[in-house]
Amino acid sequence: FFGFDISEMVRSYEYDDEQEGIKDEIVIKFSHVVAENTPKGMAAHRFARMVEERTDGKVKVEIHSNGVLYNDNDEWEAINKGNVQMIAPATSKLSAYYPKWQVLDLPFAFPSYQAVQDAYEGPIGHSLLKELKGSNVTGLAFWYNGYKQITNNAHPIKYPSDFSRLHFRIMPSPVIDAQFEAFEASTSTLPFNKTYKNLEVNFINGQENTLSNIYTKKFYQKQKYLTMSNHGYLGYVVLINTEFWEGLQPEIQEVIKKSLQETTEWVSRHSIEMNDQHSRNLKQLKSIEIHTLNQEQKRLWREAIKPVYEDAAPVVGYELMKELYKIQL
Ligand code: LMR
Repeated sequence: FFGFDISEMVRSYEYDDEQEGIKDEIVIKFSHVVAENTPKGMAAHRFARMVEERTDGKVKVEIHSNGVLYNDNDEWEAINKGNVQMIAPATSKLSAYYPKWQVLDLPFAFPSYQAVQDAYEGPIGHSLLKELKGSNVTGLAFWYNGYKQITNNAHPIKYPSDFSRLHFRIMPSPVIDAQFEAFEASTSTLPFNKTYKNLEVNFINGQENTLSNIYTKKFYQKQKYLTMSNHGYLGYVVLINTEFWEGLQPEIQEVIKKSLQETTEWVSRHSIEMNDQHSRNLKQLKSIEIHTLNQEQKRLWREAIKPVYEDAAPVVGYELMKELYKIQL
């Protein structure tokens, strides 16, 4: 009579029912590129467990580690399209899209862990997260890893001139690129999980990373020299797809925020000890020669990277540079 038969109505009723079923369980796919036994890997697991427990299993957080689901470039695209709901890329990876984020990549920007925390939790972090407003991603927290060190297979790197003519893998970041340029080295931007292979085939001579990444991805198998330079800090921004986030009930948003806050505190304390452990593991290997920069060598490195600051300051802006100098005091 109304132009449709009863079986259609039943089907559509069943469909609604199913929709409700889907709504009952919320799945958050959380993709990242590093190993499980790292600050980010462990933090992601803690966060997932907390959220599941606190929502009585209503929210499931599925962790996909080691870049098995998406590598560096794809994970950014995937979260923007909503194919995954959460990622926690290195802050450097946002700096090509959001130039002010370059501030966090400036060499020797953070003289202490306290300075890193002041940047993430203070005006710098707030202002960087605000930059993302109105986009497909919402920044919820900053997570900690550690200082970057340099590895290579040519010769010990102690002085800026030792970089000359070497080729390094870098993350996609204009400041990191400029840093190596200042050292007269060349670079290729490669995904994290392609680094080992590119070291193996000698396409690149070296790379920079935290001790936890160098150890867990076995870069030491393909690298003869490690320079403990602490020349930059590698940390993360925890991102969630904006549409997904805004569609969540306020109670669930609260659970996620609170669990992230506790995980952030946890990873800020444990990331240092995890990297120390990986440093001890590397020392025990004896297959990689380790050199720690002395004061004079550090001074020369700082001298060499001055042009990086000159170029980045106008991009980062006066306000953020002022905040950076404040936390360096
Ligand atoms: C890298 O690409 O070297 C890092 O961003 C990997 C990571 O996420 O720690």
